[in-house]
Amino acid sequence: MHDPESLSAPVWRDELEHEYAALGERLEHLVPCLEWPLHLPLIDAINTLKKQRGAVIMAHSYQSPEIFHGVADITGDSLGLAQAAADCDAELIVLCGVHFMAETAKILAPHKTVLIPDPEAGCSLASSITAADVLALRARHPGVPVVSYANTSAAVKAESDAICTSANAVQVVEAMGSDTVIFLPDEYLGRHVASQTKVELVLWNGRCEVHEKFTAQQARHAREQFDAVLVAHPECPPEVLAEADFVGSTTAMGKWLEREKPARVALITECSMADNLRVQFPATEFIKPCNLCPHMQRITLPKIHEALRDMKHAVEVPPQVAVRARAALERMLAVGRRETV
Ligand code: 13P
Ligand code: SF4
Repeated sequence: MHDPESLSAPVWRDELEHEYAALGERLEHLVPCLEWPLHLPLIDAINTLKKQRGAVIMAHSYQSPEIFHGVADITGDSLGLAQAAADCDAELIVLCGVHFMAETAKILAPHKTVLIPDPEAGCSLASSITAADVLALRARHPGVPVVSYANTSAAVKAESDAICTSANAVQVVEAMGSDTVIFLPDEYLGRHVASQTKVELVLWNGRCEVHEKFTAQQARHAREQFDAVLVAHPECPPEVLAEADFVGSTTAMGKWLEREKPARVALITECSMADNLRVQFPATEFIKPCNLCPHMQRITLPKIHEALRDMKHAVEVPPQVAVRARAALERMLAVGRRETV
């Protein structure tokens, strides 16, 4: 067995093609064939290092197909990954997603090492609000509970009463037992949640820079030109959601496709997600009004390899922040594990 520390850049071996033939076939239409010889040695080296280190690789659904299908042990939406981090037995987690997801994993698994391959992988929603903003809102609305979207920093989570994801936002808001809830920071998700509950929501003006770009005209075009059903993520603007046949979280979209089996679908969400679902639903044709998340795209195979080889970049959350953020996350997990929107 190699000493992990001594491994340098992985190189091509002819046998790799045979060893990874099944994976190559699955990803044939998703990964350009010229890229495959570059990916394979890295996929192999990562899988070897992963075993040597006893690590678990978790990947969000917006990760590119060579990561999602090639090296991830656990895949899912942000709720699924949060639950997996809380439940996981491994001492080392490599979180392939954006920074708030790695922070969440660390908060829920404080004694484990959580690595993020690129610590600069941010999120426009997470950077739209600070802990000081939350305190100012609390001062303006005394006694009103705060529910924050998982797409926030640990410091914001620590100032919140509960966390939610797009998969369980309505349930978490209603579990607060209050007529009014401060809901942060995604305004569009907040408006969608408000349309499904009697609880009055005080909203913030955060936006996902990927989903806010979709337009109603684009959605209509997909329906009219391609005869596609429209499935949209609730971070999209309300006029886009109004055109959709189904609105749901990342996981809810997959479940809907499994149930409805449409001939043609336009997934109005981040476009690696459509790529990853295409492998799962070969009988459905995917029309992709394509917006990629630039932050998710910062995670690459070479960076995952480097993270595992050099044991970087470990995520740390100050203990006094972590303990309060954890309480808010646990409130979410207590509302229900997985049964949601
Ligand atoms: P999910 O909660 O559906 O995983 O979404 C996270 C996200 O960043 C969406 O843009
Ligand atoms: Fe953040 Fe939007 Fe990227 Fe999701 S898609 S990580 S909400 S910027």
